[in-house]
Amino acid sequence: MKIIQCIDEMQSIAQTARVNGKRIALVPTMGYLHQGHASLMVEGQKRADLLVASIFVNPTQFGVGEDFDSYPRDMENDMRVAESAGVDLIFAPRAADMYPVDYQTYVNVEKLTLPLCGANRPGHFRGVTTVVAKFFNIVSPHVALFGQKDYQQLAVIRQMVADLNMPVEVIGMPIVREADGLAMSSRNSYLSPAERVSALCLSNSLNAVRTAFCKGERSVAALKNLVLDTISKERCAAIDYVEFRHGLNLAAVDTADEQTVVALAVKIGKTRLIDNRVLGEE
Ligand code: PAJ
Repeated sequence: MKIIQCIDEMQSIAQTARVNGKRIALVPTMGYLHQGHASLMVEGQKRADLLVASIFVNPTQFGVGEDFDSYPRDMENDMRVAESAGVDLIFAPRAADMYPVDYQTYVNVEKLTLPLCGANRPGHFRGVTTVVAKFFNIVSPHVALFGQKDYQQLAVIRQMVADLNMPVEVIGMPIVREADGLAMSSRNSYLSPAERVSALCLSNSLNAVRTAFCKGERSVAALKNLVLDTISKERCAAIDYVEFRHGLNLAAVDTADEQTVVALAVKIGKTRLIDNRVLGEE
């Protein structure tokens, strides 16, 4: 497995691979890799001849006062995880090369970025779509893989790809969870042991909603109360949002159906965690 920092080198390797008829898969990440990231890589490996994973803590998607400086980094472990998941090339550019002085071009998906995480993290998705568009131009992937863990991010990227006619197939992959249900996340490393226990209120509340939905409850007001009840029992948990949305266009819904996604953002102590569940999925 090779690590490439230089943008031009990455671009020319990708062009040569394409000329030689190779299919390229890309898994964009911010590193501190876990089995959720690895699941995207394993799938990417099946779908391409050259599997590239990017590791880049992208400054433009962090707001003022967010955790850019403290975002966890561990390149040695990342290399182990990526290599055993079948990654051929790690692309880890320098921020100063990705965003040189006088950088001034951004990609913005307008409507899908307004609710949910977009409402609380202004500019966040603009940073995500910009860096992903840059990666697509540098790595020229035929296929790119993203996790449903970041449900809105996946919807926003699909919209960007469709709107800008990007020749990339976007694959969404299921959420990988710890044995007790907590969705894997690099940010779980911020949690104290007590907070780690409290953090289960996210997945537990989603399970409670799914159980009630399976028993026939369709009222979003009633289902939302189940989430609020479960989360309010945890003293260190503060809700950022609990939303029931249409799974494709993220429009708010009053009545739940199989396509409804329940999306949560909850602060456990100082750590903001997100999770979601599509009600029609097991
Ligand atoms: P990061 O949080 O590192 O996540 C990289 C990819 O891994 C995303 O597509 C995310 O949805 C997926 N992922 C994270 N946790 C997962 C889990 N438990 N199960 C399945 N997939 C999971 O998302 C980003 O980085 C950045 O915004 C990025 C797209 C790289 C742009 O900077």
